[in-house]
Amino acid sequence: MKFVLCITGASGAVYGYRALQILSSIARVDVVVSRAGGIVLEQELGRSVSELREEFPKANFYGERDISAPIASGSVLTSYRGVLLMPCSMSTLASVASGVNINLIHRVCEVALKERVKLVMLVREMPYSRIHIENMLKVTDAGAVVVPASPGFYHQPKRMEDLIDFVVGKVLDLLGVEHQLYNRWKGGEE
Ligand SMILES: Cc1cc2nc3c(=O)[nH]c(=O)nc-3n(C[C@H](O)[C@H](O)[C@H](O)COP(=O)(O)O)c2cc1C
Repeated sequence: MKFVLCITGASGAVYGYRALQILSSIARVDVVVSRAGGIVLEQELGRSVSELREEFPKANFYGERDISAPIASGSVLTSYRGVLLMPCSMSTLASVASGVNINLIHRVCEVALKERVKLVMLVREMPYSRIHIENMLKVTDAGAVVVPASPGFYHQPKRMEDLIDFVVGKVLDLLGVEHQLYNRWKGGEE
């Protein structure tokens, strides 16, 4: 199993971090952190990209400018189970929706869409403008799955980790990855 995990500059770096913890123990993970993603990672988790590299030595890290990385190619990306953008900024969403590739993350998303590799975009902004919503519709029409970074509360979370795991678990469900991150709703009592 192989995945590409992209961390962009939206709030919620912890979602990408948690996904990396889980996926790197069961699969090959190629990680791309955008420049802004690195800034938010520092701000929110107190970790630099270099520290992330040290913590996950088995993962392959690429910089956003590394446009010649193997994952930028369709013939390589088709062997991957999916591409995850966790979290996905409105700026990256707009680039993907318009097909303009400024960095490796945009290119990987474009390739995922053209090769029909599963693309999951965990978008985060509040509130949304009409442009954001239109861009979500565009990428959905093109084959991506847009997931809001909004946890549910029906599993009765007690800690912040429960909320994070709920969202990460939903993304892993979409990729067919088994996990025990949250208890699934089994229906209410009569
Ligand atoms: C602390 C911080 C939090 C941010 N949160 C968001 C956010 O939740 N959603 C968003 O779309 N942009 C957010 N931004 C702005 C993006 O980082 C900015 O638009 C950046 O250009 C995105 O670049 P990227 O898509 O290449 O990562 C945030 C920036 C900072 C510094």
